Amino acid sequence: GAAELGPYRHYMQKEIFEQPRVIGDTLEGVTGIMPELFGDSAYKVFKQIDRVLILACGTSYYSGLTAKYWIESVAKVPVSVEIASEYRYRDSVPHPNTLVVTISQSGETADTLAALKHARSLGMLHTLTICNVATSAMVRECALSYITRAGVEVGVASTKAFTTQLAALFLLTLTLAQVNGHLTEEEEAAHLKAMRHLPVAIASVLALEPQIMAWSEDFARKENALFLGRGMHYPIALEGALKLKEISYIHAEAYPAGELKHGPLALVTEEMPVVTIAPNDALIEKLKSNMQEVRARGGQLFVFADVDSRITSGEGLHVIRLPEHYGLLSPILHVVALQLLAYHTALARGTDVDKPRNLAKSVTVE
Ligand code: G6P
Repeated sequence: GAAELGPYRHYMQKEIFEQPRVIGDTLEGVTGIMPELFGDSAYKVFKQIDRVLILACGTSYYSGLTAKYWIESVAKVPVSVEIASEYRYRDSVPHPNTLVVTISQSGETADTLAALKHARSLGMLHTLTICNVATSAMVRECALSYITRAGVEVGVASTKAFTTQLAALFLLTLTLAQVNGHLTEEEEAAHLKAMRHLPVAIASVLALEPQIMAWSEDFARKENALFLGRGMHYPIALEGALKLKEISYIHAEAYPAGELKHGPLALVTEEMPVVTIAPNDALIEKLKSNMQEVRARGGQLFVFADVDSRITSGEGLHVIRLPEHYGLLSPILHVVALQLLAYHTALARGTDVDKPRNLAKSVTVE
C-alpha cells in the first residue's frame, strides 16, 4: 500500500532506489573469495568442472549473458548461456564436466526448472542456482546456491533482482578464477574493495534521475528506440531495451554496436532515438565510430558516457555522464541509468508501470 511506497510513486521506482542497500545486503559477510560461499561441496565441484552452462529466462537471462563476459575473461572457463525454453526442447551435446547454473529471481519459473531437469537427465549433475528466494523449488533442486538478498520484488519489470544477480555472478566469477589459479591476492583485494564501494557508486547514478527525466520527455513521444552496447555492456543494452518495451510499450531493440551496419542502420532516421552505452573501456574508439554512423543518418544519440570518455553534447548528440568509470563492474552502474530511463518514459506515457499489460511477475506454467 501507500505506506510501504513511502516517497515513491511506484514499486518499480522504490525498487530501483533500493539497489544500493540490497547490493550491500547481497554481499554482506563476504570478507574473502571462497568456494564455500556457494555451498559445502562447492570446492570439489568447481575443481571438477571445465565449462559452465547458464540457463534462465527474461531479465535473468541477461544477467547470465553478462556473466559469460566476466567468467571467460577473468576465470578463463568457457560459458554458454541459453534461454531455458529453447534449451529444454533442442538437441544439444551434453558434457558431464559442466557446471549448470540456473538464474532466477523467483526460483519457480517453469521453463528454467524444466531446463535444469533436462540438463540433469543428460547427465550433467553439477548444479548451482543464483536465486532470490531461499525456499524456492530452484534452490531445493540445486546442490549449490547463492541467495541474492534483493528482498521481495513487486514490480513486474525486474530491477533490483537483476543487479543483485550480477553481484552474485561476479562473486562466482572470482571464485572460479581463484580455483583455477587466475586470481592473485592483490586482485582479490582490489575486486572486493570495488564490490564494497558499489552501493556508493550506484547512489551516484541514482542522483542522475533529474537529467534522465529530462530525456524521458523526448522518449515518451517515440514509438521505436535502438539500444547499443559493446562487450559486457551489450547484455546491458538488451536489458535496457527490455525494460523500455515492457513498461512503456515503445518498441525497442538492442544491438551490439559493431553489428549496426549489418541491418539496424536501415532503421535510423531523425525519428529514431539511439541509446548508447559508452563506458571508457578498450572499445570506446570503436564505439565512437559506430556513433558517427548513426549521426550521419540523422539519428538522435542519447549517450551514457563515463566521466572520462571524451564525448561532448552537440547537434543530435545528448550526453549524460556516469560519475565513475567502474571497470568490470560497470554493467551494474549502467543498467541503473537505463532502468530510470524506462521508468520515467513509462511514467510520462501514463502506463501501468508496476503491472504492464499481458505480463506476469512469475511464469510458473509453460
Ligand atoms: C517474468 C518476469 C521477468 C523475469 C522472468 C524470469 O517474465 O516478468 O521480470 O525476468 O519472468 O523470472 P525469474 O523469476 O526466473 O527470474
